[in-house]
Amino acid sequence: MCVEPLWQTVAKVPPLLPNEVHVWRAGLDVDPAEIGRWRATLSAEEVSRAKRFHSPQNRDRYMAGRGILREILARYLGTPSSDFRFCQNAHGKPALSPGSGLVDLRFNISHSHGLALFAFTLGREVGVDVEYILPSRSEGRLAERFFSPREVVALRSLPDSAQPEAFFHCWTRKEAYIKARGGGLSISLASFTVPIDSNLCTHLPITAHDGPEAGRWWLRPLAPGEGFVGAVAVEGADWSLGLWQWV
Ligand SMILES: CC(C)(COP(=O)(O)OP(=O)(O)OC[C@H]1O[C@@H](n2cnc3c(N)ncnc32)[C@H](O)[C@@H]1OP(=O)(O)O)[C@@H](O)C(=O)NCCC(=O)NCCS
Repeated sequence: MCVEPLWQTVAKVPPLLPNEVHVWRAGLDVDPAEIGRWRATLSAEEVSRAKRFHSPQNRDRYMAGRGILREILARYLGTPSSDFRFCQNAHGKPALSPGSGLVDLRFNISHSHGLALFAFTLGREVGVDVEYILPSRSEGRLAERFFSPREVVALRSLPDSAQPEAFFHCWTRKEAYIKARGGGLSISLASFTVPIDSNLCTHLPITAHDGPEAGRWWLRPLAPGEGFVGAVAVEGADWSLGLWQWV
């Protein structure tokens, strides 16, 4: 039987090894004093972006997310959290600016309904996605529009009652992959296929149909909490997964 891995709480951030993928889970709805502490670690650009959110809740969640990201990076790299500089690729994928540390630490973030996931690797690309399951979003023809033909067949062969959750499994796995590659929606969503079954304990293959990417990427479904689904996609197959709860 497959036993779902636990999100471990630790007093100290464990070392990240080259054959490991660490995913941290954090709630972003924190008290105002904590928001104030996170805000103090952000760059002027991040503060200015936070101010552009119309909703105070979304503004605070953004600041908490950025603050927690900085704090986890600080603990991995032994650098003060306010020292980090970020850059982004042409499609908006953020990364540490060159020269931020002695190791090639990479990360990706996702957030949904006040919950965030942060994924970290050394020297290999990573993408993570979390979604709150809203059954209404899985209705209609969204799958036919966004999923590959094989994914649509797999989804529609399930009982009606199982389709909403399977839809979000497929969605988060596809998002994690395009986020790992960093191409955003410039990558055709029909150009690759992910398994939609809900086995949580093994690496699942991503079948890329675009030549050299075939066989390079693997994913792991995540169970981030009641009502949420998630996935992490990683370059290569030779890695193990650690799940950590930010407190
Ligand atoms: C840009 C995109 C990454 C947004 O994804 P999302 O699910 O809306 O949002 P998430 O919370 O998962 O991720 C947002 C984070 O991803 C990161 N990100 C932004 N662009 C990225 C890119 N090209 N690649 C990887 N990560 C990216 C950022 O850190 C961002 O957080 P921040 O803005 O707070 O810094 C992109 O995948 C997208 O626009 N998707 C649209 C949704 C869609 O149609 N999906 C179809 C799936 S079948």
